Amino acid sequence: MQSPQVLLVLSVTLSLVTIGATDGGFCSAPSILDRETSSKPMYWKVTNPTLSPSHLQDLPGFTRSVYKRDHALITPESHVLSPLPEWTNTLGAYLITPAMGSHFVMYLANMQENARSALPPHDVERFIFVVQGSAMLTNASGVSSKLMVDSYTYLPPNFAHSLRAEGSATLVVFERRYASLENHITEQIVGSTDKQPLLETPGEVFQLRKLLPQAVPFDFNIHIMDFQPGEFLNVKEVHYNQHGLLLLEGQGIYRLGDSWYPVQAGDVLWMAPFVPQWYAALGKTRTRYLLYKDVNRNPL
Ligand SMILES: *[C@@H]1O[C@H](CO)[C@@H](O)[C@H](O)[C@H]1NC(C)=O
Repeated sequence: MQSPQVLLVLSVTLSLVTIGATDGGFCSAPSILDRETSSKPMYWKVTNPTLSPSHLQDLPGFTRSVYKRDHALITPESHVLSPLPEWTNTLGAYLITPAMGSHFVMYLANMQENARSALPPHDVERFIFVVQGSAMLTNASGVSSKLMVDSYTYLPPNFAHSLRAEGSATLVVFERRYASLENHITEQIVGSTDKQPLLETPGEVFQLRKLLPQAVPFDFNIHIMDFQPGEFLNVKEVHYNQHGLLLLEGQGIYRLGDSWYPVQAGDVLWMAPFVPQWYAALGKTRTRYLLYKDVNRNPL
């Protein structure tokens, strides 16, 4: 004989078990996140983005992308791919261009098998970071370097080079007309994020690496910034430098001007000079982003 109390306890226990086992519900979301991030390659979210919350996926016309006078958020569902001029077997998506007010371009290049890069225009320097796959970089002396995920190269203006993809590769590329200085030249650089030392960040908690030398010849740098969930920028920055940002991992809230944007891996931000900017990392995983910043030149 079972008492009514025992039956009640049993049915409550059963319904708890049912809720816990529901896949895709709010209750199980964190464990899915943990499982996925532990078994996937680095930066996999950039090329496999969550296009929109599931309840908005089939809503016609919905996008998180925003374009304003002093900033833009370009989310993966807005990428428009087309062949990159003179590259072979490569589709590209220009995400930040001077039409927005920037002095640089930022684009994604999706190289397929047997893809080959073309050179940037005359006097234009180039920075390339690999987010998926690998590519072989060869310079004019025929010296090759294999660029894997998380590795990068800086190519000075008018520097002959070529990239070839062996399988497929996804690159994020920055190009800018070099702001030359008398008696200074830049040199080719090949490196990877994990080989760069952590730098001091007085008054801040995030971790900072710079991918290019902090030296006068360079007119920009690329920062890699890491935030643990719950960490945020202490400074509410307003400055003359401009930024192009790619979220490589994680999610959080980016404030730009008077707008507050939920952002996640795969999202790109354009920040014009003097736009108020601030970030807080949320969720269960580290945020890592890659950030272009112009430096070392008189803005006049
Ligand atoms: C090509 O790269 C190698 C190795 O870094 C370097 O020694 C050589 O000078 C480079 N060639 C040119 C033309 O820059």
